[in-house]
Amino acid sequence: MTPSETAGFEFLRTWLNDRCGIHYPDKKRDLLEQRLSRVLRVYNVGSFQSLAGKVAGDGQHDIQLAVMHAASTNHTYFFREEDVLEQFRTRILPTFRGRGEYRFWSAACSTGDEAYTMAIIIAETEGLAALRRTQILGTDISAPVVERAELGIYGQRQLEYVPRDILQRYFRPIGMDQYQISPELRACCTFRRMNLKTRPYPFKRPFQAVFCRNVLYYFDKPDQIATIEALFDVTEPGGWLFTSVTENLREMPSRWQIVGSGIARKGT
Ligand SMILES: C[S@@+](CC[C@H](N)C(=O)[O-])C[C@H]1O[C@@H](n2cnc3c(N)ncnc32)[C@H](O)[C@@H]1O
Repeated sequence: MTPSETAGFEFLRTWLNDRCGIHYPDKKRDLLEQRLSRVLRVYNVGSFQSLAGKVAGDGQHDIQLAVMHAASTNHTYFFREEDVLEQFRTRILPTFRGRGEYRFWSAACSTGDEAYTMAIIIAETEGLAALRRTQILGTDISAPVVERAELGIYGQRQLEYVPRDILQRYFRPIGMDQYQISPELRACCTFRRMNLKTRPYPFKRPFQAVFCRNVLYYFDKPDQIATIEALFDVTEPGGWLFTSVTENLREMPSRWQIVGSGIARKGT
């Protein structure tokens, strides 16, 4: 790379970190270069320097979104990390029984698999009627994945861990090995684009539980801590935070009380 290309690339790397909390350390520099090169091709931009200029400019929302989308990894699937979901099913859901409603947030939801998995677990444990009293919000920084979540169409890779009877109950085959999620599940899940780095979060009513899994490891330590603190502020007293088992909450000092691997609770 020429010095001006390096400067352009470094501007983008810093912008992703400061603006989106997406952290690419030196050892992942090549990966970011590959991903941003794709944006250059698709948007017919000649260089990283020129891309940096566009991202920095006013009114360049589309290209900013494209850079964010290219840099974020959207890998997800239904029933991810069964151990954590088992805790949700057996330990958390019963605490809200009799409350009349369920209010959960899948923060960094990617294509919606996690939000719909929560809805399936609620339907399976509390009965289908409970979905009418359920609001699950899914948010992600990337616009294309939010659109896919709204569509609710999935292929074999994302459905690999869905038991056959669940697949039959909650999905409709639409051909080409694709399945669409049932209307009841779609009705209780809402998807929006949102940057977890823009804090505080704008919710008037607190959530009973927040799933924020497999995203914190893209953030640097101060951002991880600021994020889980901001999640704390929008969770009701006694409510829960789920992270991935690989995202060690003990390394992120905060007001949350850690109750297990990937699970924390807000004091009452
Ligand atoms: C690996 S996926 C995790 C999906 C799901 N939570 C799971 O555990 O399967 C990470 C998601 O985080 C999103 N993401 C990255 N940075 C973000 C930010 N600053 N705000 C919101 N979402 C972000 C990415 O777009 C991506 O869809």
